[in-house]
Amino acid sequence: MSPAEPEAVSGESATGSDTGSATESDTAQWYRHCGTVDAPGSSPCYAAWTVGIAGDAELIRRIDRWPHNKRQPLLILAAARFLGAQVSPYRDFRIFLEEHWAQVSDIVLSRATQTNEAGRCATLLPSLAQISAVEDRPLALIEVGASAGLALFPDRYGYEFVRAGADGDAAEAGTDPAAAAEERTTRLLPAGAAPGMYPVLRCVTSGPVPLPAEVPRVVWRAGIDLNPLDVRNPDDVAWLEALVWPEQEFRLERLRQAIAIAQERPPLLVAGDLNDQLVALAGRAPADAALVVFHSAVMAYLDAAGRSRFRLTMANLAAERGCHWLSNEGHTVVAQADGSNVVPEMDDARLRGRFLLLQDGEPAAITGPHGQSLEWL
Ligand SMILES: C[S@@+](CC[C@H](N)C(=O)[O-])C[C@H]1O[C@@H](n2cnc3c(N)ncnc32)[C@H](O)[C@@H]1O
Repeated sequence: MSPAEPEAVSGESATGSDTGSATESDTAQWYRHCGTVDAPGSSPCYAAWTVGIAGDAELIRRIDRWPHNKRQPLLILAAARFLGAQVSPYRDFRIFLEEHWAQVSDIVLSRATQTNEAGRCATLLPSLAQISAVEDRPLALIEVGASAGLALFPDRYGYEFVRAGADGDAAEAGTDPAAAAEERTTRLLPAGAAPGMYPVLRCVTSGPVPLPAEVPRVVWRAGIDLNPLDVRNPDDVAWLEALVWPEQEFRLERLRQAIAIAQERPPLLVAGDLNDQLVALAGRAPADAALVVFHSAVMAYLDAAGRSRFRLTMANLAAERGCHWLSNEGHTVVAQADGSNVVPEMDDARLRGRFLLLQDGEPAAITGPHGQSLEWL
């Protein structure tokens, strides 16, 4: 995946497609793929808009004037929503685009897809707790590719881990389905927070997930991003909101709650390339905490050389600093462009749009891309 193909998350990828007609341009096929494959299960509105754009030769011509990495569907859709486009049939959206084209173009050219999904903390939490327990120390966290840093607050969120049950379990056993679901649920609360003041991250689990008894303590947190978003800047907050797909209200609510927590004491975010900044930032972490470097939906932005430089840095940090590493990334990261596989024992086909969680380089789990599921391996 090239930097023009930023996220291996449904609809946010920039891969070409084979679902369009033979005469459609690459860009039109890209939008058609989004509208027919990526979007329908998540956002009927985005599905209709991207299919509409795919069939709109004039719009495709305009989009093709932008640099390749600016042509991806999510960027123009988020830009339009940032400017006020509402869920509507395509013809109304088309009128909106016509009336606001210059502003849409400005936003597309000045912004990037930087979706910040606090929900991913649910899939990282068991590993973080395990590291803290084994080291018998609280955590110091560094997130590379942190966006606004919302995943740096795993200790400030609540969790609801629901063990997947076989369909019909409750009915067969003659039990109340709600009671059966409750029996399969493990709740963890952030220390000292009043209910309603934090998002509750719900995650369906399968396999022997090492669920902790409590949320691990974090004593230091910092992130690196090419373009850190600032939770105190209303434009950045509006952009983060525009990146959430329109019909996903629960994600928007979760985002707003996470932003409110980050606004209380914004995390240290260093601007720059993760490969240039990581070692210096790791040197600032308190020596008496267990240091964990983690990332989600980031490696797809790096080319093969950037990824291998990062792996080398992580190996050095592990050897010299005892640093731990959590990598939560999609299939393009597991299967490399040259055909090699960073996890030879891991069958790429098992991911099916999900992420692979590697703990210190070893496969630990297959995770839902927004933190909605955790299949322990
Ligand atoms: C899709 S967002 C994911 C944000 C966050 N990790 C999460 O899971 O919510 C990817 C982020 O990685 C950042 N990024 C991409 N390449 C980077 C690099 N070479 N160095 C630092 N940050 C980078 C982007 O700016 C963007 O904010």
